[in-house]
Amino acid sequence: MSFYRGRRLRKTPAIRKMVRETAVAPQDLIQPFFVSEEDDDLERPIESMPGQYQLGVDKLLEHVEDVVEKGISSVILFGVPNEKDEAASQAFAEDGIVQKAVSRLKRSFPELIVITDVCLCEYMSHGHCGIIKNGHVVNDATLDILVRTAVSHARAGADIVAPSDMMDGRIKHIRQALDTEGYTDLPIMSYAVKYASAFYGPFRDAAQSAPSFGDRKSYQMDPANSKEAMREAAADVAEGADMLMVKPAMPYLDIIRDLKQNFDLPLAAYHVSGEYALIKSAAEAGRIDERKIVMESITCIKRAGADIILTYYAADIARWLEQES
Ligand code: PBG
Repeated sequence: MSFYRGRRLRKTPAIRKMVRETAVAPQDLIQPFFVSEEDDDLERPIESMPGQYQLGVDKLLEHVEDVVEKGISSVILFGVPNEKDEAASQAFAEDGIVQKAVSRLKRSFPELIVITDVCLCEYMSHGHCGIIKNGHVVNDATLDILVRTAVSHARAGADIVAPSDMMDGRIKHIRQALDTEGYTDLPIMSYAVKYASAFYGPFRDAAQSAPSFGDRKSYQMDPANSKEAMREAAADVAEGADMLMVKPAMPYLDIIRDLKQNFDLPLAAYHVSGEYALIKSAAEAGRIDERKIVMESITCIKRAGADIILTYYAADIARWLEQES
């Protein structure tokens, strides 16, 4: 009677724990925040993302204090400016909302890793991630503005910049500019593989960044493609990226695995707004166990190969992990 008895190693909680291959830890998680210029005391719930807010700088500090207490060591910031134009001037303004938030955060939480999303869609009146000419997003003219934005974040004190625009050549240009300005030690986390995904819908409400015409398919990737993901990642590695990201996460576990196997840089995955909203809605309707669904999802994203996960559930997960230990 000899056959494989996998159940031997599933017999007790202690044995299951001993042979577990994947563990999620608070330091793997990055908590996103939306910081608004409207009013320092603003705390406006985002309807499409229950539990998330547009926050003024003062409120942001309170919310960050709370997530830090729960064990989170890293945040990523998205700006919601008062003024948008066709040159994204508020994206790189010295007193722009993200620049202000970064310096306030670093003063209050010197140990916190403050990451900035480098993109223009939140600052453009038309909501696209680059300069528009003849109805088309032009690549190379956009690079200049992205570079200025990244450098302005560095000057404000950002610990990591994360370009999410998907223009070609942006990692190279941003790296060169950071080096020239003396920020040779500032890492770039590249949204290397970012798909043109319907899962960003709730984020665009939150950041008021939906494109006013057309879509993002001429710069973000086709969900049908995986070989292209390797080309995008290889280009960003060659241009000087320090970390790579795949986005969204759950529907793209194969891409996460491919990147992990082909590149040895730290790999992040973004569990995006739509993934969050799906779980929240089902939980609020009483159809699923929110905590179990989230823990399983995040564990599976790690198992696929992500070292780091950006998720709106970061602080909740840290709290749940603490309760388990
Ligand atoms: C900016 C940006 C987006 C997200 C992160 N950075 C929106 C987009 O590309 O439309 C999406 C994050 C999320 O859905 O949680 N370009």
